[in-house]
Amino acid sequence: MIPREIETERLRLRQFTEPDVKAMARLNGMPEVTQYMGHGVMNYDDTWRQIAAVLGQWQMRGYGPYAVDDKASGKFIGRIGPYYPSDWPAFEVGWLIDPAFWGHGLATEGAKAAVDCVFQHMDLDRICAVIHPDNPKSIRVAKKLGESYLGETPIRGASALLYGITRERWKVSRR
Ligand SMILES: CC(C)(COP(=O)(O)OP(=O)(O)OC[C@H]1O[C@@H](n2cnc3c(N)ncnc32)[C@H](O)[C@@H]1OP(=O)(O)O)[C@@H](O)C(=O)NCCC(=O)NCCS
Repeated sequence: MIPREIETERLRLRQFTEPDVKAMARLNGMPEVTQYMGHGVMNYDDTWRQIAAVLGQWQMRGYGPYAVDDKASGKFIGRIGPYYPSDWPAFEVGWLIDPAFWGHGLATEGAKAAVDCVFQHMDLDRICAVIHPDNPKSIRVAKKLGESYLGETPIRGASALLYGITRERWKVSRR
């Protein structure tokens, strides 16, 4: 079990609620947001099921993706956190941010806090990121977190890049 909320300098990571479905569906409807996510654009109903699965993972496993609010504006701006469904290649901390907020280090800030939180509260040796080969922004976030390239991994009939950070490396990087 990890904390259900995390606060960083600029972000609040919290549990999803049903009113977030509309805001998340807006992001899921943007091709620039979903093009490297493996599922393409999603409508409100798809997003409702996606968030139900997010909350189901929290319920079954005691961890899961957080809804992310920008503290300054109070706006919902994305999703960051642990993701490890039954068919996923590795324990992942993933990230997705509203394009209006890209390029300010927010994905890195939120993901760093989530990685710290997982290593502090769970007995895991490694945290990964599963990244589409054509997604350099996401690769950059992984590298800024101290993750290194581990190789290609099959995922749901496709292939993705696996980045990761070990507990040992994380300890050294946070000193
Ligand atoms: C990937 C994503 C979360 C990054 O969010 P963000 O808040 O802008 O990320 P950050 O600002 O923390 O870092 C982005 C980095 O990518 C860099 N970058 C931006 N465009 C780039 C490009 N075309 N090539 C390489 N690096 C790029 C930025 O310069 C920045 O690095 P820097 O701090 O060294 O300058 C955001 O683009 C997103 O939500 N994409 C859609 C969803 C997605 O693909 N999620 C990842 C699934 S694995």
